[in-house]
Amino acid sequence: MIDFELTDEQRLIRETARDFTDREIVPRVRENDRNERFDTELVRKIADMGFLGAIVPEEYGGRAVDYRTYGLIVEEIGRGDSAMRTVVSVVTSLVCSSIVRWGSEEQKKEWLPRLCSGEALGCFGLTEPDTGSDAANLKTRAEKVNGTWRITGGKMWISLGNYSELALVFAQTEPDRKHKGLACFLVPTDQAGFTTQEIHGKLGLRGSDTAELSLDGVEGELMGEVGEGFKIAMTALDSGRYSVAAGCVGICQGCVDASVAYAKERQQFDRPIASFQLVQEMIADMVVETDAARALVWRAGWLKDTGRPNTTETSIAKLYATEAAVKCANTAIQVHGGSGYVDDYPVERYLRDARVTTLYEGTSQIQKLIIARAVTGVNALA
Ligand code: CAA
Repeated sequence: MIDFELTDEQRLIRETARDFTDREIVPRVRENDRNERFDTELVRKIADMGFLGAIVPEEYGGRAVDYRTYGLIVEEIGRGDSAMRTVVSVVTSLVCSSIVRWGSEEQKKEWLPRLCSGEALGCFGLTEPDTGSDAANLKTRAEKVNGTWRITGGKMWISLGNYSELALVFAQTEPDRKHKGLACFLVPTDQAGFTTQEIHGKLGLRGSDTAELSLDGVEGELMGEVGEGFKIAMTALDSGRYSVAAGCVGICQGCVDASVAYAKERQQFDRPIASFQLVQEMIADMVVETDAARALVWRAGWLKDTGRPNTTETSIAKLYATEAAVKCANTAIQVHGGSGYVDDYPVERYLRDARVTTLYEGTSQIQKLIIARAVTGVNALA
């Protein structure tokens, strides 16, 4: 049965991640957000802590922690800055976990130590300008030319796309075969034909890098088999969605912490606003959302750690935690009043940063279809 008691090691790692977040991430987050600055120096510090690729086996440069522990790290970083949490999620869950599971020994040795150490960043090239939720319907093409895979197409909304040394690119090899024709390629980004463009004007995650990728006959190394691309993407998302959910528990907790501190200090009608029942109700609502989201994330992590199927439970955790983060951030602004509407406090950024989490790595609507399909046995998309 699931045990809510953390081990000594898990407690220690959580404390370490918490101290690191408060010491290194929190002091920089407002300026990075204001200046839309992707803080590569901070990414390097996160890597030095062993937080990138933490679930990767030690022989490839990782820390070999379990998913529960990884979730604790991600929660703490998510409390500090969702832009940096996105770096951890993309590199660790979408890229490293895919290479661990599907890569050849050579591919693992070539890329994992560099990704875990932060020497290289990786991005996940699934979404395209015309293909989001319908991930099987990719237009990017891969063709074998004189024994080499050549990839042509475009990718959209790619986190870390402008800074990555490696792109995991999903492409179609045989359009008639639909998702069974998809393949996954390891694409080094330092080659002619690989170009990127920064996406500006985002509501949130302003300290994160987001790119549009253009691929013009670039060389890719096949990972897994032709036809396994869709499965690779889905298993990557099983890990990625868990990571997003854990990060959102961090946002929820940050909202509770900020609101409790503010409500105890802010005086109205000659008493702290924490003494008003309607303020207490808002705080209680946030606490319940946070606890429920955390419990769902822990359950998903426990299922992963014990090798049980967890796609549905991961979607439940992702759906609940991301929507909870939006709700909590909105409520936290209400507790802060006018002060919550400007960036003197973290809560307005929490709302802007939370908003994308119900979109990326599968919208809330896609999570609902996955959950409902599991219980009804009916595929709404068939
Ligand atoms: N694990 C392993 N295999 C899986 C799987 C999983 N979680 N989910 C599906 N599969 C397999 C199925 O078993 C099936 O295999 P067979 O062909 O052998 O039978 C195959 O994949 C096709 O599955 P479905 O019939 O379920 O496929 P579908 O076309 O109905 O799509 C979907 C299902 C859930 C809607 C899927 O398309 C999906 O998740 N869409 C959302 C995409 C998404 O999350 N995009 C986010 C991009 S990443 C991102 O945001 C990047 C960033 O930078 C942050």
